[in-house]
Amino acid sequence: MAHLHITSWVIAFILLAIVVSLSRKGNAKGAKITHMILRVDYLLILYSGGNLFASYSTYGPLVIIKVLAGLWAIASIEMIAIKTTKKQPAGIWWIQFVIAVVLALILGFGYLPMGILPA
Ligand code: HEM
Repeated sequence: MAHLHITSWVIAFILLAIVVSLSRKGNAKGAKITHMILRVDYLLILYSGGNLFASYSTYGPLVIIKVLAGLWAIASIEMIAIKTTKKQPAGIWWIQFVIAVVLALILGFGYLPMGILPA
């Protein structure tokens, strides 16, 4: 499940980069289609993250913060995609994206027990 989780958020980062690059090149249709695929990928992140969460027997504060950071990262990705395709400034969402992802990576890989890297 950790492999699916990691794969699905790596795919989300790649798809977001494609959405941003296509909209900057003026390819609105390509950006829209990629954005739709990105939204399907959110489901994979949520499913695999939800599954990892469900395998906990006790829920300490760190895993709760990890889940919130993951949800925050998805919200930022979606807002960046929306703002960029609408040609509106997305800087504030990029900042939130970096904070949320760094938090999720540190907690997920560094402090929490499940997954492929031993904490
Ligand atoms: C872009 C968004 C996300 C990123 C970058 C991310 C990152 C990570 C990382 C790096 C790990 C550790 C994997 C490992 O050790 O092998 C992890 C595990 C986990 N993630 Fe996420 N995640 C994201 C979204 C989510 C979401 C939305 C949820 C909740 C629905 C979630 C819930 C979890 C849980 C419960 C774990 C297991 C923690 C553990 O014990 O290691 N994640 N995530």
